[in-house]
Amino acid sequence: MIPTGTEPQRPSGDRRAFLDAVLEGLAGSPKRLPGKYLWDEAGSILFDRICTDPDYYPTRCETALLPRVAQAIAEEVGPEASIVEFGSGASRKIRTLLNALARPARYVAIDISEDYLEASLARLRPDYPAVEMTTVCADYSRPVRLSVNLAGGTTLGFFPGTSIGNFAPQDAAAFLTRARETLGPSLFLIGADTTHDPARLGLAYGGCGGLMEAFHLNLLARMNRELDTAIALDGFRHEARIVPEPYRMEAHLVATRAQIWSLGGREVELKEGESLRTDTSHKYDPRTFADLATGSGWHLERHWIDTFGFALYLLRAQ
Ligand SMILES: C[S@@+](CC[C@H](N)C(=O)[O-])C[C@H]1O[C@@H](n2cnc3c(N)ncnc32)[C@H](O)[C@@H]1O
Repeated sequence: MIPTGTEPQRPSGDRRAFLDAVLEGLAGSPKRLPGKYLWDEAGSILFDRICTDPDYYPTRCETALLPRVAQAIAEEVGPEASIVEFGSGASRKIRTLLNALARPARYVAIDISEDYLEASLARLRPDYPAVEMTTVCADYSRPVRLSVNLAGGTTLGFFPGTSIGNFAPQDAAAFLTRARETLGPSLFLIGADTTHDPARLGLAYGGCGGLMEAFHLNLLARMNRELDTAIALDGFRHEARIVPEPYRMEAHLVATRAQIWSLGGREVELKEGESLRTDTSHKYDPRTFADLATGSGWHLERHWIDTFGFALYLLRAQ
């Protein structure tokens, strides 16, 4: 029998940590909300719907590019590999790798959204009975410890979905350094976006038939559920902004009227038009990405870019 397992690291489950992160963000200028709390079960389900929306090109591009390069990756990785995915979500893209690699030995799925993580792996396991599968509920913006034995073939880290873009560059470098620690001697496949086309970006991050707005408003709804705020969601509208330096998309919730809410025994005051930044998506060109990797314990081995500017980077631990 193939052992399967779960390693809980209780990343963000406690109310105090959520409250402190929100208070810290609101004390900043401009005000922001902690993006990792977008990802509760409701947020994960909304994001899954975004992934199938025609406006949201990153998923479409990555899903088309992966099968085209999977054989080349399989040759680099070799047989009996362990694949460790950071932010595994619905665990769909991993199927392309599991199908292409020779006799993959194990899959370790790391995600902050615990219920969704378990449900995704429950769907995946029956299709790959020979692959040992482990869920790790953890926050990858902090050190992640794996107690799984990755011995055997090569370890391949996998970080698709342009999630690396959610980090500011210095935090992306810190993430890569931590991932190097977590993975040990390994390869690391990362999906990142280089697109600078304002029309495409505007549709993907501002459109999706209202799903993007619902995804970001869910963070306020989560605060109402878990932090006992009474924020009226109709007092906000979602706005996607292009910021040129460093080039990134920012998601904002803009107050459509002045408002005061009570949070953790304090009063939070927002003026009409004031915004709360909920997320960022940095767009790295290959040279910047290679420099980032080199400064963080990795070497850029190969990369592939599609005609829309979506890139897959294969790094090797230095
Ligand atoms: C953009 S989705 C990508 C999902 C999937 N890998 C894909 O490419 O379709 C980001 C995933 O990372 C997870 N996530 C976001 N922040 C995280 C964090 N700090 N630690 C662990 N997982 C996180 C979310 O729950 C979500 O499943």
